[in-house]
Amino acid sequence: MNASEAEKRIVELSEQINFHNHQYYVLDQPSISDFDFDQLLEELIRLEKEFPQFLSDLSPSQRVGGAVTKSFKAVPHKYPMLSLSNSYSKEDLLDFDRKVKEGLGMNTLDLFSSPNINYVCELKFDGLSIGLSYANGLFQQAVTRGDGVQGDDVSTNAKTIRSIPLQLKGDFPKSFEIRGEIFMPRKSFEAINKEREEIGDAPLANPRNAASGTMKMQDSAVVASRNLDCYLYYLLGEDVAQLSHYESLQAAKTWGFKISEHTKLVSSIEEVIAFIEHWDKERFNLPFDIDGIVIKVDDYKQQLRLGFTAKSPRWAIAYKFKAEQVSTQLLEITYQVGRTGAITPVANLQPVALGGTMVKRASLHNADIIEKLDVRVGDFVFVEKGGEIIPKIIGVDFSKRNPAAEKTNYITNCPECDALLQRLEGEANHFCPNDSACPPQVKGRIEHFVSRKAMNIDSLGAETIDQLVKAGLIHNIGDLFQLRKEQLLPLERMAEKSAQNLIAGIEAAKMVPFERVLYAIGIRHVGETTAKKIAKKVKSMQLLMQASKEELLQIDEVGETIAESIAAYFADEKNRAIIQQLMQAGLQFELSEAQQQAGSDKLQGLTFVISGVFNKYSRDQLKEMIELNGGKNSGSISGKTSYLLAGENMGPEKLKKAQSLGVKLISEDDFIALLANT
Ligand code: IVH
Repeated sequence: MNASEAEKRIVELSEQINFHNHQYYVLDQPSISDFDFDQLLEELIRLEKEFPQFLSDLSPSQRVGGAVTKSFKAVPHKYPMLSLSNSYSKEDLLDFDRKVKEGLGMNTLDLFSSPNINYVCELKFDGLSIGLSYANGLFQQAVTRGDGVQGDDVSTNAKTIRSIPLQLKGDFPKSFEIRGEIFMPRKSFEAINKEREEIGDAPLANPRNAASGTMKMQDSAVVASRNLDCYLYYLLGEDVAQLSHYESLQAAKTWGFKISEHTKLVSSIEEVIAFIEHWDKERFNLPFDIDGIVIKVDDYKQQLRLGFTAKSPRWAIAYKFKAEQVSTQLLEITYQVGRTGAITPVANLQPVALGGTMVKRASLHNADIIEKLDVRVGDFVFVEKGGEIIPKIIGVDFSKRNPAAEKTNYITNCPECDALLQRLEGEANHFCPNDSACPPQVKGRIEHFVSRKAMNIDSLGAETIDQLVKAGLIHNIGDLFQLRKEQLLPLERMAEKSAQNLIAGIEAAKMVPFERVLYAIGIRHVGETTAKKIAKKVKSMQLLMQASKEELLQIDEVGETIAESIAAYFADEKNRAIIQQLMQAGLQFELSEAQQQAGSDKLQGLTFVISGVFNKYSRDQLKEMIELNGGKNSGSISGKTSYLLAGENMGPEKLKKAQSLGVKLISEDDFIALLANT
């Protein structure tokens, strides 16, 4: 293929991929199989690699992220990013309607006064506000609200959100800004918390915090993996041709933006109220959180006449849903033991309808909260469902307390194994120290060990683990590797075939690389990424066991808490015995040879700039290899740069600069060869 053919094909592929992205992420109407989509994307990446002169930073291949934002640049908003005044009742809304009419000089007593007022009713998405700017149909910048006058440039992260178009279609204004909300769907939020729980990290409070936390992450590849989404709701700019807000939203939809299908144009405040009443109940069936309804005067001329106060527009108002609250009786307090031994007290309630579901249980969090609420069995309690998924108890109806109700005494022993509970200074929760024999801890650790991102033994499910533990066949992760087929066959629902699969799955796990073994053994606070960093730096289990706290603190991402947790893990004789067992079973306890290539002065005096995405190693790994071999990393190309280590999808600016300064370009393979040969 020659250059001009390649250019044509790249344009063609980009258009096709953009189209399918839009079908899938904006319209929710997939038009192609995942496999076919991947084929198109792969072809594009391949061509862009071969003809980097045609790679644009708005190419759909850039959605996977990879670029890192060291610090987010503050940028002023072209139009201040205001917020809305709030309302909480029907009266507040009638008041708003009256003020709008007054502001427009309408006589509220004259039923025939015209022109009429149309309102646009919208969902109030619970995420973080974002302003996206476009010029000539191309994405320019994404800026957070910040203080309303200036916000942070989060463009690199925003570009990974597939519902944010990078190239527009149709008849769009030459230059404009569109504002909306970036949010995390509940499903993605639950998945993240599940993983955090697995490594013993505190769960994120709600999808809103999770979304804003994610947008401030430095590594856009992680952002890309978090499934954020974005609805747009406000168009701004001098070139906007539409006459009303609703028309603008409909137009923006045709340019490729994701506009909520629930947005509704109505012509009276009564219809607004009906819309609110509908969504107050229906909101729980949405796949994301909303915290209210936004009401906007539709007509732009009317908006202009109403204008703004210092803080918010007079032509719009937010209606905030009340966190629904009910009162019900507390029947019993039970205590749950998590995988890490943390105890959570749970209120078992007389079932009651709340937020679209029947609530039977609510979290009581910890001993201090129980004490503070002074909640007792038999009490009538107020339960609320706010932004959080699990309902919470916010108070006791003391007027209904039975005088004979006994003060709640927090348990002293583990409800599962009877061990004496402990509470560490500074920690909110009690925990059960009997980690090697307390059943939920034993099972939880094994479940984590076999999970997909750890050893990935998918032939071993939670139920089978339960059976194996109950039958006394396994007590810890080390025992798994001693299992024989004959031992499995007597178990309930265990056929010859599944027993065989199980053993084969365990056998295959012996090939899982060291970094994942390190994650799988379940050291508290050591998640997937941390395990990778530690594995790269320390190189083997043996060396990790001997590492001092100071040495551990040298590793990126390892702070006091993690260092102490690692030390505590290996200080425990029972853990050391398990490690011994795993080593004898033949698990990967060292970095592979390819990963080991480090520790020389082969690159002494050389300065590297790394750009793009690589196949064999991550950028961090490459950086590390450079440093370990005596070379230097730099973020920008200058006369001092020895090599530009170029991966896929490298930014065109970097390429140009390198060419103009005569800096040598090398590929990942060249780099590996360089390390091997020099
Ligand atoms: S309009 C000048 N529409 O709620 C008008 N805001 O409390 C600007 N929000 O800062 C906002 N959904 O972050 C608007 N459909 C919607 C919204 C919405 C969520 C957020 C937004 C805003 C805050 C106001």
